[in-house]
Amino acid sequence: MSHTERLPRTRTYLMCPPEHFTVEYAINPWMDTTVPVDPALALKQWQLLRETLTDLGHTVHVLQPRPELPDMVYAANGAFSVDGKVYGARFAYPQRAAEAAAHRHFYVSGSWEFTDPEHVNEGEGDFAYLPDAYGGLILAGYGFRTEPVAHTEAQEVLGRPVISLQLVDPAYYHLDTALAALDDRNVTYFPEAFSPASQRVLAQLFPEAVIADRADAEAFGLNLVSDGRHVVLNTEATAMGEKVRAAGYTPVHVELGELKRGGGSVKCAVAELRP
Ligand code: ARG
Repeated sequence: MSHTERLPRTRTYLMCPPEHFTVEYAINPWMDTTVPVDPALALKQWQLLRETLTDLGHTVHVLQPRPELPDMVYAANGAFSVDGKVYGARFAYPQRAAEAAAHRHFYVSGSWEFTDPEHVNEGEGDFAYLPDAYGGLILAGYGFRTEPVAHTEAQEVLGRPVISLQLVDPAYYHLDTALAALDDRNVTYFPEAFSPASQRVLAQLFPEAVIADRADAEAFGLNLVSDGRHVVLNTEATAMGEKVRAAGYTPVHVELGELKRGGGSVKCAVAELRP
């Protein structure tokens, strides 16, 4: 099969090292507080992910981790930026609430137009941006963490149309566990993670989407970061890697087994900064 050449675009990301990563509470079905995590291994895997992104030519900013916030490694949840504007996060669970201020501090110290949210939303965990789809489209998930009213709020703050999608499977509690942007206009997703109506919306908007299956989702294969050509995804997601390759992208696998114990993988650990 031939495809138009998939062109990478240089990105800027924000990550937070898992220096204090543990699973000491369970707020999603993947978290098991009885199985200890290996903090040294988690850090090593995270460092390789960061190096993978910088080796691809991208810039990675690093947020200072805090000992009382073990989930801070999942930096995607801290905010959502589009066109230099930032819609801050407001976490659904009290255990993570204080992470929002750490992210806020990062943006207000830079040249970002930051807005504090009124409604519960978990940043890029539940928001994705496709700059070249329909002139610039935001996809937003609800059902487990982010409140649907936050989608309306995000649209007002960011001035881009927001498409609300209902997540229905608790294993795929954030949009970024079930759907990812492959480039500026195309996505990959696991249909069954969405309500039937939301599946129809996705099929209408993205006829070229790469369709993933349950095994891909279970391997956290949808929790990927793409620069438009290189698709960074965890090693467990081999079949997903082949699917994106068949669609003309280049899979780049990284081992992130420890972060999966907290219910996340590549995308959860990476927030994209869109100036
Ligand atoms: N333990 C974290 C939580 O349940 C994992 C967050 C994963 N992040 C993501 N962007 N999906 O909140």
